[in-house]
Amino acid sequence: MKKLKVGIVGAAGRPSAFLAAFKESGKATLTAACDLNPEALDNTLSGIEGVERYTDYMEMLDKGNLDIVIIGTPMHLHVSQSIDALKKNIHVFSEVTAAISIEECKMLLEASKTSSAQYMMGENCNYMKPYMVIQEMVRAGVFGDVYYAEGEYLHDCRELLYKTPWRRKYQFETRGITYGTHSLGPIMGWMEGDRVESVCCAGTGRHNLDLNGAPIAGDDSAVMLCKTAKGRLIKIRTDISSPRPYSLNYALQGTSAAYEGSYLSKDFDRNQVWVNGESEKGQWDEITKYEEKYLPKLWRDIGKKAEESGHGGSDVVIMTDFIDSIYEGRKVPIDIYDSLDMTLPGLVSQDSILQEGRWLPVPNPREW
Ligand SMILES: NC(=O)c1ccc[n+]([C@@H]2O[C@H](COP(=O)([O-])OP(=O)(O)OC[C@H]3O[C@@H](n4cnc5c(N)ncnc54)[C@H](O)[C@@H]3O)[C@@H](O)[C@H]2O)c1
Repeated sequence: MKKLKVGIVGAAGRPSAFLAAFKESGKATLTAACDLNPEALDNTLSGIEGVERYTDYMEMLDKGNLDIVIIGTPMHLHVSQSIDALKKNIHVFSEVTAAISIEECKMLLEASKTSSAQYMMGENCNYMKPYMVIQEMVRAGVFGDVYYAEGEYLHDCRELLYKTPWRRKYQFETRGITYGTHSLGPIMGWMEGDRVESVCCAGTGRHNLDLNGAPIAGDDSAVMLCKTAKGRLIKIRTDISSPRPYSLNYALQGTSAAYEGSYLSKDFDRNQVWVNGESEKGQWDEITKYEEKYLPKLWRDIGKKAEESGHGGSDVVIMTDFIDSIYEGRKVPIDIYDSLDMTLPGLVSQDSILQEGRWLPVPNPREW
């Protein structure tokens, strides 16, 4: 079978992290790239031969003869660009979040239903090694009945306000959870077959200025509580403007095991598991103790090459999984419904915080 032809939009920004995945893949080739900034695009593609360069997205879709488009532009462009591709039956891999409003989620679902191509939101945190190990342990029943989880994205992104000014409106100054899929994504992976049914949200108010000393609207930290269809409780916190080091934290509790993990930097994370009947009483085990048994094949196969790449190796692993699924004609691993299930709770939390933290229902896209 011929290699899949891939185009990237927003290629000079975030999606440049995926270039390594195409190099490794025998199934896809990067044939086109688009960015509004041609100089930055040239820099990104330096040393890579045979890639058509565009500054106009529609022109790339019209002329590129693409099988797949990767959308790595700012958040508010994801839905319109995904719909343009789906209308042309081009498979979409979109950066997070899938959409910035519930209305946009409906439009995206409609386009996805009427296209012969597939849509996937690229939630790379789902593909980080420890979270995939935990997923396999949950699947194997090690956690027993899972009933509680936490996810925190604590990342002082204020310097990005100048490089990527769109973040001010869509991530900083909108109240509620605006960038919650990194936290909710892995948790939804541990609670397969479940979905968030209602949320409430509260914020800290604003205590920190931007790096030029100017005010920022919105809250420094926002916390969303989620109740799932199966009665589980999830706590999500995002904070992108408090002065502190980076930390991505998760916790999971079941009737027979507990997990706590923090990803602090490329070289430093800690992941602790306690399993009833296996671990010492009151003593955490390192997750490495369970890796040999529960590391999924996908990670074993890609292994070291992934660890050298971005975001704890997850960028290469997620792209490989996506490309393989399209190449083999399978359902994508994070389909349109999974993508909306990860995105919609945050969007509803933005209404909840404006209503004094009222619990609000989260729409089920399967009923649209
Ligand atoms: N999954 C992750 O770990 C992760 C990490 C960082 C960013 N992101 C997401 O990636 C996306 C991009 O973030 P970024 O920091 O690279 O932002 P950015 O502002 O740098 O945008 C990326 C690129 O898109 C280009 N662009 C903007 N509008 C365009 C258009 N209409 N047509 C073509 N190109 C266009 C810009 O010139 C830029 O080079 C965001 O949605 C963000 O949420 C995800």
